[in-house]
Amino acid sequence: MPTLLAIESSCDDTSAAIVRDGRVLSNVTASQQVHVEYGGVVPEYASRAHQRNIVPTVEVALRRAGVSAEDVDAVAFTRGPGLIGSLMVGVSFAKAFALARDLPLIEVDHMQAHVLAHFAEDPKPEFPFLCLTVSGGHTQLVVVRSPLEQEIIGRTIDDAAGEAFDKSGKLLGLSYPAGPEIDRRAALGTPVLDFAQPDPGGLDFSFSGLKTSILYTLQRRAREEEGYVKDHLDDICASIQDAIVSTLLRKLVAASEQTGLSRVALAGGVSANRELRQRLEQLGRERGWQTFVPRLEYCTDNAAMIGVTAAFKFERGLFVGQDVAPAARL
Ligand code: KG4
Ligand code: ZN
Repeated sequence: MPTLLAIESSCDDTSAAIVRDGRVLSNVTASQQVHVEYGGVVPEYASRAHQRNIVPTVEVALRRAGVSAEDVDAVAFTRGPGLIGSLMVGVSFAKAFALARDLPLIEVDHMQAHVLAHFAEDPKPEFPFLCLTVSGGHTQLVVVRSPLEQEIIGRTIDDAAGEAFDKSGKLLGLSYPAGPEIDRRAALGTPVLDFAQPDPGGLDFSFSGLKTSILYTLQRRAREEEGYVKDHLDDICASIQDAIVSTLLRKLVAASEQTGLSRVALAGGVSANRELRQRLEQLGRERGWQTFVPRLEYCTDNAAMIGVTAAFKFERGLFVGQDVAPAARL
């Protein structure tokens, strides 16, 4: 019954979790506020905040799990993809902890872990299943044949879905990250505006054209009506959200038809979006899909998903040496 300490530090959240026998005993995340005033994550500040937060975060994770450092059997960490300075803090901490106690190390791919976040709770999807992973850095359609056999069959060719939310929000003067506020405002508005979105074809996504379309549409409306953006903010947010969610679900349906898979999962920070969750469930009912949406704490970056992924690797004896280094891209 191995007890794993898992560390996640790929972007702007410092997270530590204790996972025993594949079950999450604790999952503690310290978020960073420093980036809000800059309208995006500042890598240099992110690494410094990780440096400050990592030891207390691990201490709290151990305490909440009722586990002492002596009980830990292996240390897992996110090797990438992510910001290199941020990753370095987590990787160095994991190596030092493992070295001091002569423990094995397990490296984890952050994107594989987002998909496997579903195994942090019940019900767990059976294999194979289809997963739409949507975060601030990635948008992927993944066929998951087994825990470690994941094939990416569609991806964004430019911006990620979360980036599309955040950059659209920036155009509207919303603070970073804008996804949650667009979600909140959209519930109060109606999607009355049509924004053009180029389709790169197949199962790939493209979101960079959306920003330009929003910008031109809002500039035109503002010329016709003074104070247009301020007065119609909720409707604009509803229109942006509708454009992004419709695109995501259109490709998800195409992927399900192409692969014949009807077990369909969402993963990543954008799966916190209420319209995406509701419309997925509705689609599921219409199409006879079995749908899986993780609890919010397992959608955004967290160490529980790293620990759960590491448990699958521990079973298979997939360890790495002390010479392992982080990788911004895997
Ligand atoms: O997975 P995540 O926490 O970090 C990355 O690995 O990127 O995802 C963060 C992204 C941000 O772009 C944020 O705006 C978006 O997830 N997000 C949302 C919502 N909550 C977070 N987007 C739309 N609606 C939400 N409720
Ligand atoms: Zn992530």
